Amino acid sequence: MSSNSRSTDFIVRRPDDWHLHLRDGAMLKAVLPHTSAHFGRAIIMPNLVPPVVKTADAEAYRARIMAALPEGHDFEPLMTLYLTEGTDPADVELGAKYGLIKALKLYPAGATTNSDSGVRSIEAVYPVLEKMSELDVPLLVHGEVTDADIDIFDREAVFIDRVLSPIRERFPSLRIVMEHVTTEDGVNFVKGAGDRTAATITTHHLIINRNTILVGGIKPHYFCLPVAKREKHRLALRAAATSGDARFFLGTDSAPHMKSAKECACGCAGVFNASNTVNCLAHVFEQDGALDKLEAFMSLNGPAFYGLAANEARIRLFKGDDPLSYETRVSVDGDEVVVFDPGFPLFWRYEAVNA
Ligand code: NCD
Ligand code: ZN
Repeated sequence: MSSNSRSTDFIVRRPDDWHLHLRDGAMLKAVLPHTSAHFGRAIIMPNLVPPVVKTADAEAYRARIMAALPEGHDFEPLMTLYLTEGTDPADVELGAKYGLIKALKLYPAGATTNSDSGVRSIEAVYPVLEKMSELDVPLLVHGEVTDADIDIFDREAVFIDRVLSPIRERFPSLRIVMEHVTTEDGVNFVKGAGDRTAATITTHHLIINRNTILVGGIKPHYFCLPVAKREKHRLALRAAATSGDARFFLGTDSAPHMKSAKECACGCAGVFNASNTVNCLAHVFEQDGALDKLEAFMSLNGPAFYGLAANEARIRLFKGDDPLSYETRVSVDGDEVVVFDPGFPLFWRYEAVNA
């Protein structure tokens, strides 16, 4: 569709977000428009408190999302269930056959924000994984072990060896998405694991490395899980995202927390990037001479992996002469959420293309 020669103006399919946290209540209402303005669909993470564990919970949550959607926004939430050791394969079957449940999310217990109900022993969920293979419902994994003796920067690589590889081997037909991959090890695992294994990559992990978080003072708004790694890993993620390889696609992991909960002695993990992701990605892909691969990464590879059609709507991306000015804060309930700062001005904009 586009090519590098058309480097300042080109049309692509409307993007989707294959990993998103929308929360609930006032936060949902405040952040949802920042996704639905830009994305056609999003895979909605189930780590609410309490988590979305049953089909009935997902149905109710979907209704709350639709009620919060601004008028005129065309957006479809794709619902997921939070996998627990108590998940009933029959409930998964019900939700999947009904067309509501698009995936299940595996959080190792204690791995990240609101993951206390996560899985302690992977064998305990084998019957659910069996059912998911049969129904072709993807398993989305938060790929980090939680053992206290494993260094936080090694948790993804150790998870691949101890948990992911064994699941991959035991359930060969199960679709697996390694969510928010952050290491070269993860990228290599996905490349070597056949076409039923994919990975989402976040906007921020393409832009920041661990120095961004720690050098010159601690920057809580760049802290998320999995934590950004050293530069060689960021470069591996960039290479994977900009390659056009169908197994890599956008999952923003946009994860809003109140500013007060991030700027404190024990700050929450999560980066809120829904509102400027498309602009950031165009910048990144241009830097890497890969604007012709942007559509694959944000609009084509994800739906293909999930067995869905790409969005019919199109957007036109174009580069302005002046830096884009955009809201750097979203107000919520007397507090605010800070928008991801890529650390450089953004020149790329986009507009909807009328059919
Ligand atoms: C996410 C959140 O806040 O819900 N945080 C994050 O740092 N990514 C949870 C998650 O996806 O790990
Ligand atoms: Zn997430």
